[in-house]
Amino acid sequence: MQKPAPAAKKATQETVTLIDNATGKRFELPVIPGTIGPKVIDVRKLYADTGHFTYDPGYTSTGSCESKITYIDGDVGVLMHRGYKIEELAEHSDFMEVCYLLLNGELPTPAQKTKFERDITLHTMVHEQLNRFITGFRRDAHPVAVMCGVVGALSAFYHDSLDISDEHQRMVASFRLIAKMPTIAAMAFKYSIGQPFMYPRNDLKFAENFLYMTFGVPCEPYKVSPVLARAMDRIFILHADHEQNASTSTVRLAGSSGANPFACIAAGIASLWGPAHGGANEAVLKMLSEIGAKERIPEFIKRAKDKNDSFRLMGFGHRVYKNYDPRAAVMRKSCHDVLNELGVKREPMLDLAMELERIALEDDYFVSKKLFPNVDFYSGIILKAMGFPTSMFTALFALARTVGWIAQWKEMIEDPG
Ligand code: CMC
Repeated sequence: MQKPAPAAKKATQETVTLIDNATGKRFELPVIPGTIGPKVIDVRKLYADTGHFTYDPGYTSTGSCESKITYIDGDVGVLMHRGYKIEELAEHSDFMEVCYLLLNGELPTPAQKTKFERDITLHTMVHEQLNRFITGFRRDAHPVAVMCGVVGALSAFYHDSLDISDEHQRMVASFRLIAKMPTIAAMAFKYSIGQPFMYPRNDLKFAENFLYMTFGVPCEPYKVSPVLARAMDRIFILHADHEQNASTSTVRLAGSSGANPFACIAAGIASLWGPAHGGANEAVLKMLSEIGAKERIPEFIKRAKDKNDSFRLMGFGHRVYKNYDPRAAVMRKSCHDVLNELGVKREPMLDLAMELERIALEDDYFVSKKLFPNVDFYSGIILKAMGFPTSMFTALFALARTVGWIAQWKEMIEDPG
């Protein structure tokens, strides 16, 4: 896999001049190089020097922290973790390697990978008393509500990994969170359908084990399909991190007060739950079933273009990507692999999605506004085909994003600045 040489981080004497037109005063603001990408104007002393604040509520021009984990260039459609392109990671790596990469900055050697996998699998079980905690919820509770509560409650069970100033405890908490998240997500699902919890199986790989705990039952053997396990693993890779978005910023903000890692990740899950963040793939499925038939696509395209109609094509457009979302291309392929494996020769919803994609990509409105299909356009179709109810979609996103949140949280705690 190709990794570009990191840009040398030189101290720069460069400045930009700010002129206050009211007083004619000039202020020199230092310019610092970004980890990769555009240079950054350092406004830390702006208020002290000029008496002015900056205003950028959506962080569209603001780097909120220094981070070396993920780089996105939305204009050209690039997403990289630690310098590796997401398409290459999805093709050549598995989720455990990506976890190691996000946490440690480099891909593991075979020996490091074996040890890392072992470290994670040693923590896959949850405290037995957590079962009682989960069964205290209503059966019809949303799985993300359960996860949010249970992950926050982990801090009441694992007292020996709460000291954030201790590097070893930070590492143990990280392993616990990555390892227990699939177990908790699967338990939330099992509880909602009235089936017994399945204990994790440490002889299985990460994604395989999750599918086993979700779809297996104690009364008969459950063989996990390698194609489905690979597709699940890819979905985890594609959602592992996405820079300083709402949930990641929430984790960092919660962590900045010294809160324990379990509480911080619970805060991230709460933020992810919003429909503008993690809920879009659910909205895609809802839209496709509303459209119902290919013949009705033009009617919906017309509505999406109508300024007086609030309807938007779900799964199209992205706040950051103004070119093809690189994750969408990988997801599109996985979608076909999964449907083939499941013997779904003709999935009406996928047919509909393909036709919608074709028409939108030829339409002047969508082309000129650079509204391409995003990762959520395909992920809902795959997850539905695998047997997940839509209420589990955001739970799966949270499961995958946990490693990104932890890597960002650790980076913040370990940043001397
Ligand atoms: N269908 C129709 N028109 C659209 C759409 C769409 N999906 N998305 C944007 N537009 C139009 C919008 O009306 C506006 O037109 P005009 O300039 O004439 O007023 C223009 O495109 C720019 O829209 P915007 O809302 O300023 O663009 P944005 O970059 O702020 O919004 C977005 C990004 C994702 C919120 C938006 O594209 C959208 O609502 N998409 C549908 C929901 C969706 O799929 N969300 C999932 C995003 S991926 C999640 C993740 O990565 O975690």
